[in-house]
Amino acid sequence: MDFKQFITIVEDYPKEGIRFKDITTLMQNGEAYKKAIDEMVQFASQKKADVIVGPEARGFVVGCPMSYALEAGFVPVRKPGKLPREVISQGYGLEYGKDELTLHRDSIHKGQRVVIADDLLATGGTIEATIKLVEQLGGEVVGIAFMIELGYLNGRERLKGYDVFSLMTYN
Ligand code: PRP
Repeated sequence: MDFKQFITIVEDYPKEGIRFKDITTLMQNGEAYKKAIDEMVQFASQKKADVIVGPEARGFVVGCPMSYALEAGFVPVRKPGKLPREVISQGYGLEYGKDELTLHRDSIHKGQRVVIADDLLATGGTIEATIKLVEQLGGEVVGIAFMIELGYLNGRERLKGYDVFSLMTYN
């Protein structure tokens, strides 16, 4: 399936010069959303993932249905102040801004096989921080799955050494 036909490019959002890739038009189409998730599930299944880790908010949209299909656990990575129990945290730089991500301290067990899932790979800052969080708890990042990769931002370079799968690439 040509998934790109379901992605809407929004010019100058959230600021001038950014061509935002809107996945909501893909999600609105039941068949396209399911087929996109199915392909990501296939990748995670080959990697024998015990758990899917997804950063908020769009990482939930991708990671939760994957986890359901795989009968694997789902662990949310969230912005500060959103997780109710003890967390570990990691700062990171975004394509447009800076922030911090948190993970419940007891959410990943040593040696667990983790696939990280998100909608989009831009600079790779979000996922680099997510990897650090998972590894700090002893999880093994066996793969990283994206719907969209922005090839021109070279995020993949930042994730060198990890098995990165993306459904669509924009160059
Ligand atoms: C977006 C996107 C990725 C990240 C990619 O999330 O969903 O998680 O940015 O950028 P990077 O590769 O440069 O780190 P955002 O932080 O905008 O949060 P949202 O999903 O809650 O909108």
